[in-house]
Amino acid sequence: MSTTRRFRIAAIPADGVGKEVVAAGREVLDALAAGSAGAFAVDWQEFGWGCEYYARTGRMMAGDGLEVLKDFDAIYFGAIGWPGVPDHISLWGLRLAICQNFDQWANVRPVHFLPGVRSPLRKADDTELDWVVVRENSEGEYAGVGGRNFAGRGPGGEVGVQSALFTEVGCERIMRFAFDLARTRGRRKVSSVTKSNAQQYGMVLWDDVFRRVARDYPDVETESVLVDAMAAKFVLRPEDLSVVVASNLHADILSDLGSALAGSLGLAASANLNPEGRFPSMFEPVHGSAPDIAGQGLANPIGAVGSAALMLDHLGLPGQATRLHAAIETTTAAGVLTRDLGGTASTEDVTKALIDTLHT
Ligand SMILES: NC(=O)c1ccc[n+]([C@@H]2O[C@H](COP(=O)([O-])OP(=O)(O)OC[C@H]3O[C@@H](n4cnc5c(N)ncnc54)[C@H](O)[C@@H]3O)[C@@H](O)[C@H]2O)c1
Repeated sequence: MSTTRRFRIAAIPADGVGKEVVAAGREVLDALAAGSAGAFAVDWQEFGWGCEYYARTGRMMAGDGLEVLKDFDAIYFGAIGWPGVPDHISLWGLRLAICQNFDQWANVRPVHFLPGVRSPLRKADDTELDWVVVRENSEGEYAGVGGRNFAGRGPGGEVGVQSALFTEVGCERIMRFAFDLARTRGRRKVSSVTKSNAQQYGMVLWDDVFRRVARDYPDVETESVLVDAMAAKFVLRPEDLSVVVASNLHADILSDLGSALAGSLGLAASANLNPEGRFPSMFEPVHGSAPDIAGQGLANPIGAVGSAALMLDHLGLPGQATRLHAAIETTTAAGVLTRDLGGTASTEDVTKALIDTLHT
């Protein structure tokens, strides 16, 4: 019997379906741990931060929240946002506060096609499609640089400025991360997403750094594609993709397109990584709090469970991550699908099917 490795994980379900899918993910991960013959165990601590907490306290998280979180091995996150709290308050007050203060500069978002799930892409029926979006997660268009002019121009004349920040260091580290990831994959290729035709400062720096970094990886194929053309390529030639590296905004949009092509936003997993390990990394489904279906047992938990698999990989348990991926594939192949995938299963049905699969 191997010595049990115990991990302290902070769970932050936050809002809407975040609560449902984090509960499902925890249940599945606990079942995996129980059946892991002592390979690992999880000590959870849950934090009730989010929009309800904001309504009570005027803050999205406790004042010392970051201090408390920094000693955990990882963070397992649901989704934030709820009607009544402006989205920029909830996003900056919790999720971005964690990502930016913990320098989780690499956001990894696999686009994975599952058996038993119909893709709107006809091509997915007979072509193997599998790519990863690597999102720059610390600067770019979400750097928070800008301001609003309330006083200077009078009623009706207000001006908002939102600048994008691109640093050579920020570009280089995410590109090296993408190239290193490409070296672990069957197809060694990195596609850089740009908009340097229209954005002649930040995006031209992005392109220059990409060309320079690429020279250190002569074994990796490269291409540089404008973001508009890349949106078309996701639909028309996705078999030509392996690792797609993009700025914060571009990758945010493209990864939602990717998960929709794979069948549903509810399937998409993501990892916000601090690759140096100075701070805990955070794992969360790509989707938001889905107020339209929250509290009805309709949420697809697979994005959250897939995120738990990314967390296991990060914690040095690739074998356990593979078991979890296999359980997801068995469950979808058996047709246990939530409504977003055309099925009738509830969140609980899918969770139970995943756990049953782990037990067999
Ligand atoms: N990472 C995050 O926490 C995050 C990401 C995106 C949006 N948001 C926030 O979420 C709120 C709602 O935003 P939105 O509606 O634009 O995006 P959303 O991702 O919440 O929902 C978009 C669509 O996808 C569906 N969907 C999402 N998750 C699903 C799941 N697990 N299973 C089945 N269907 C699912 C929803 O029902 C909806 O039709 C907003 O407050 C927004 O700011 C948070």
